[in-house]
Amino acid sequence: MTRCFIIGHPVAHSRSPMIHGHWLAEHGLGGSYERVDVPPGEVAAFLDRIRSGEFAGGNVTVPNKEAVLPLLDHVSETARRMGAVNTIWMEDGRLHGDNTDAFGFLAHLDDRAPGWDGRVETALILGAGGAARAVVHGLAERGVGRIILVNRSPARAQELAAEFGANVEARGWGEADGLVAVSDLIVNTTSLGMQGQPPLELDLAGLRPGTIVDDIVYVPLETALLAGARARGGLPVDGLGMLLHQAIPGFERWFGVRPQVTPALRARLEADI
Ligand code: ATR
Repeated sequence: MTRCFIIGHPVAHSRSPMIHGHWLAEHGLGGSYERVDVPPGEVAAFLDRIRSGEFAGGNVTVPNKEAVLPLLDHVSETARRMGAVNTIWMEDGRLHGDNTDAFGFLAHLDDRAPGWDGRVETALILGAGGAARAVVHGLAERGVGRIILVNRSPARAQELAAEFGANVEARGWGEADGLVAVSDLIVNTTSLGMQGQPPLELDLAGLRPGTIVDDIVYVPLETALLAGARARGGLPVDGLGMLLHQAIPGFERWFGVRPQVTPALRARLEADI
C-alpha cells in the first residue's frame, strides 16, 4: 500500500488529509495519507524513513517548509526560488522536493477568472511573507506588467521586490487604499480577515467593476474583503481553491493519477469550515 503523509508541528489542524482522502476514495486507490507530527529537530530522521521505503512521499507544512530544503537530494527550481518545499517524493532512489503554492494560486485563478492574465496589467499584493512570494512568482511568470507590494513591515516588501526586476515595486501600507483604483487584481496574502485575526482594513471605494479580488484566507470562506468586492461589482476569488489546487501535483506524483478539484470536493471542505 502506498503511504503518504503531511509533516508539521502542530499538524492536527491540516485539511490536507481530507483532500487526499477524498481523492483516494474517488479513484478507488488503496493508499493512505497520514498526519505525522514532526518537530523541526526531527525532520532529518523522518526523511530517513521515506528513504527506507516506509512512505512514497507527502506534504510539508509549518514550521518545516524551509528546514527540509537542504536535506533533500533534488529541489525544483520553483521551490529553490521560494526558499520553501511543500511537496516531497521518492524518484529513482532520490528524495525530491517542489513547491506547488504558485501552481495552486494560478490554477484556481484560471478556474475562477479564465483569461485573467490577458487583462490584468497592474496587481496589488497585500503582504510580503511566504504566501506573497508564491503569488508574486506566479504573477511574474504569467507576465503581469506591474506588481505592487504593500506590507506592514516595509523592509520585507522591499526585499521581496528586489528579487525581481522593475515590474515589481514596494510601497507603504498606507498607500494601499489609493492603489485600489489603479489595480486590475488585488490579492490579500496576509492573515488579516481570518477568523480570530484582526480585520483587513482596505478602502474599496475606488474599486473598478470587474477588478479581481483574491483572498488567500478561507476561514471564513467569504471574507469581508471578498464581500466588499462583490458589492462593488468586483470578481471575488476565495482562498479555498488555492488550497485544493496546490494538492494536485503531489497526489499525481505519489499515486499516478491526476486528480480534479470537483464541486463534490469543494463541498466537502466547505462543510468543514
Ligand atoms: P505566510 O507564509 O502565510 O505568508 P508569513 O511569512 O508569516 O506567513 O507572512 C505573514 C504576512 O502577513 C506578512 O506580510 C505580515 O506582515 P509583516 O511582514 O509586517 O509581519 C502579514 N501580517 C500578519 N499579521 C498582520 C497584521 N496584524 N497587520 C498587518 N500585516 C500582518
